[in-house]
Amino acid sequence: MVQFTLPKNSKISKGGYFKDVTGSKNIKKINIYRWDPDKNENPKIDTFEVDITQCGKKVLDILNKIKNEIDPSLTYRRSCAHGVCGSCAMNVDGINTLSCMKSHKDINGDINIYPLPHLKVIKDLVADLSTLYRQYESIEPWLKTKEKKSKIIEINQSKQDRKQLDGLYECIMCACCSTSCPSYWWNGEKYLGPAVLLQAYRWIVDSRDEERKERLKKVAGKLKLYGCHTIMNCTNSCPKGLNPAKAISSLKKMLATN
Ligand code: SF4
Ligand code: SF4
Ligand code: FES
Repeated sequence: MVQFTLPKNSKISKGGYFKDVTGSKNIKKINIYRWDPDKNENPKIDTFEVDITQCGKKVLDILNKIKNEIDPSLTYRRSCAHGVCGSCAMNVDGINTLSCMKSHKDINGDINIYPLPHLKVIKDLVADLSTLYRQYESIEPWLKTKEKKSKIIEINQSKQDRKQLDGLYECIMCACCSTSCPSYWWNGEKYLGPAVLLQAYRWIVDSRDEERKERLKKVAGKLKLYGCHTIMNCTNSCPKGLNPAKAISSLKKMLATN
């Protein structure tokens, strides 16, 4: 039988153990993926004992506590801390999520924290999203009108047309869905992935936009769209409760009937 193994320099080793110094009885062990591009070392898992009674409810609060009080070199992205910016996406306990939305009280036992999967790691929990942003740019995510009328007049939208954007405009491009998608793992350079396809659909169904046909043509490539095999991981992992798989199937339907 064929056996797969990671290359030597990708194998994760055991890292440091940072013992609690407070004597608290409410200690949680937090295991965090660490990798520093400036050190010629393999990635490792550091374990931190954290007094969770002296910490906010979310996983991001734990990371902030570790960074502020135990190890300032811990690196991760965050900004709004309210599920709006999408920057704190990471893999917590095996699921891609926003660390500022995920309650650590819902997790029994140790908490395992990794960067978003199947992306290059820049440092610790910071994954490289440049391919995804290039793909996002390729769908031209802004309103397009032929006569530049948006510069001159306000473009009205009926309540019904506006409703078409519900479940789409809320997307914060956190990439939890795309990095949960097996098709995106294997073909991330060619397949646009659920986050970008949901965004493409958002502009295609916007009644104010006048480039629907051109937009549809742009996403119609064999692998760009049809890389999706309806596995549904994307929808299950969206921390905003959106349904990118449905947006993708609507795109396929539109192309089949147009
Ligand atoms: S659809 Fe959900 S998981 Fe995907 S990028 Fe948007 S908010 Fe994030
Ligand atoms: S439904 Fe499509 S986009 Fe979503 S996880 Fe499955 S293959 Fe990926
Ligand atoms: S910090 Fe902005 S979504 Fe989590």
